Amino acid sequence: MNVKIRVPRYEANGAITPVFQTYTVAITPTTTVLDALNQIKGHQDGTLAFRRSCRSAMCGSCGVMVNGRNRLACNTRVAELNSSEVSVNPLPGFPVIRDLVVDWDPFFAKDAVMLPYLISDQTRPDDGTERLQSPSDARQIDSPSSCIQCGCCSSACPVQWTNSEYYGPAALTRSYRFVEDSRDTAVKARLDIVGTETGVWRCHTIFNCTSDCPKGILNTENIQALKRKIMLSRLGLGRIEVRARVPESA
Ligand code: FES
Repeated sequence: MNVKIRVPRYEANGAITPVFQTYTVAITPTTTVLDALNQIKGHQDGTLAFRRSCRSAMCGSCGVMVNGRNRLACNTRVAELNSSEVSVNPLPGFPVIRDLVVDWDPFFAKDAVMLPYLISDQTRPDDGTERLQSPSDARQIDSPSSCIQCGCCSSACPVQWTNSEYYGPAALTRSYRFVEDSRDTAVKARLDIVGTETGVWRCHTIFNCTSDCPKGILNTENIQALKRKIMLSRLGLGRIEVRARVPESA
């Protein structure tokens, strides 16, 4: 079966309006969008630019918009799109460098603001072993920890499109992952970082970030949990437990 793949071709830095090019690709029931792009690059047009690495939905490199939804190219089967023409576009809201390649610097700069590492003022166990968690505490951070930083969520957020200063759901879920970590002792500093106009209060609960997350992370709920934690902490009620729902698949 043949399918048409429609791709915008951008000049350097996306400064020029793209010219759309259509390629015809032979697919099987298991051909992914990434397979199709590889087929184009390998056999039809070596100048087509796109990112990929692991081909197994782990590295987060291949996020693109496919037929209007943000997805990982490597785990989206062309046949399951039920479309004779598939449009593949760079992630919206990100500056385009060329074709399907976008600039990740602003995205990772926001991630760095979240202090994306464990901070603890507790001494390590005497025998030098790791800091342990209960299974239920570990389960609470399973879902936000499964984020692969593909950018599909932040790119799907209309608030992010209109306000590039907004941290966005990926960075906020990253913060939530450490706020919810029973071993982390920097919760107040973390809540101060996200409790700003460019943080959680900019979220309008549109839910695009949740619906387009290829890992099923409930980003919107994580952001709402951060809002409630900030409010309770400002009211001096920080000991009340507020947690986002854990996805059923987690
Ligand atoms: S190539 Fe690594 S997530 Fe798709």
